[in-house]
Amino acid sequence: MKLIQPIPQLRRWVLKAQAERRPIGFVPTMGALHEGHLSLIKQARKAVGLRGRVVVSIFVNPTQFNQKSDLKHYPRRLSADIAKCHKAGVDLIFAPSAKAMYPEDFSTWVEETKLSKPLCGASRPGHFRGVCTVVLKLFNLVQPQVAIFGQKDAQQAAVVQRMVRDLNIPVRMIIAPIVREAGGLAMSSRNQRLSPKERESSLSLNRALKLTRASFQKGKRNANVLKKFARQQLRGIPGLRLDYLELVDRHTLQPVVKASAGDLLAVAAFFGKTRLIDNVHL
Ligand code: PAF
Repeated sequence: MKLIQPIPQLRRWVLKAQAERRPIGFVPTMGALHEGHLSLIKQARKAVGLRGRVVVSIFVNPTQFNQKSDLKHYPRRLSADIAKCHKAGVDLIFAPSAKAMYPEDFSTWVEETKLSKPLCGASRPGHFRGVCTVVLKLFNLVQPQVAIFGQKDAQQAAVVQRMVRDLNIPVRMIIAPIVREAGGLAMSSRNQRLSPKERESSLSLNRALKLTRASFQKGKRNANVLKKFARQQLRGIPGLRLDYLELVDRHTLQPVVKASAGDLLAVAAFFGKTRLIDNVHL
């Protein structure tokens, strides 16, 4: 496995893979890798086969953080990540510097203007502009045939899929299912920042989503009733501060009035300073 930091060296590596007609499967990450990322790496390998190349980028993208302290405290674990990628059979880690990705006079941005507005877009202004910009840059650099994103970040997956379609980017997107810890907590690099008490409280998120889905399965269809029920499950959970809980159409991400199968029930909540997201499809 190779670790490349400078962009010119990455370009040479990509040209060689292309000359050898090896398909590239790409997993973009911000590091602090966990089982969820490892499942994305597995999917990438499956997609490109043994002859193909699996590339993981590790880059804590400053432009998608709307709070300086969140960027500062985002976990960084490069040596552990290298070991995990090596074990998982990754061919290349691309870990560029922020200076190389964003020169001082950087002034070009990519903005998706519909799907990025509700949910996390409403509480984190500018977040998806940062995501779209860095993902397009990474696609241009790595030139993958296939890119794997996680369903945990359902809105991110939808926004990037829209960008790929709208800008005719020749990348096939695969959205991989959420990987959960034993108690149901969705795997996230941010989980490492939870205190034991916060971790305990955070289990309420998935519990509330599952109970609400069960209520839908038993016949409840009124979206307001379902959302109220879900919020009730989260009331009184120690240390939990709800950011949003919404029931939206999975394609438009707009709120629904009457719930139907496949709708997305999405939640974001703070536990202390850590903001977690989770979702289920009804
Ligand atoms: O999901 C993430 O880790 C990031 O948003 C991504 C896609 C790597 C872009 O920085």
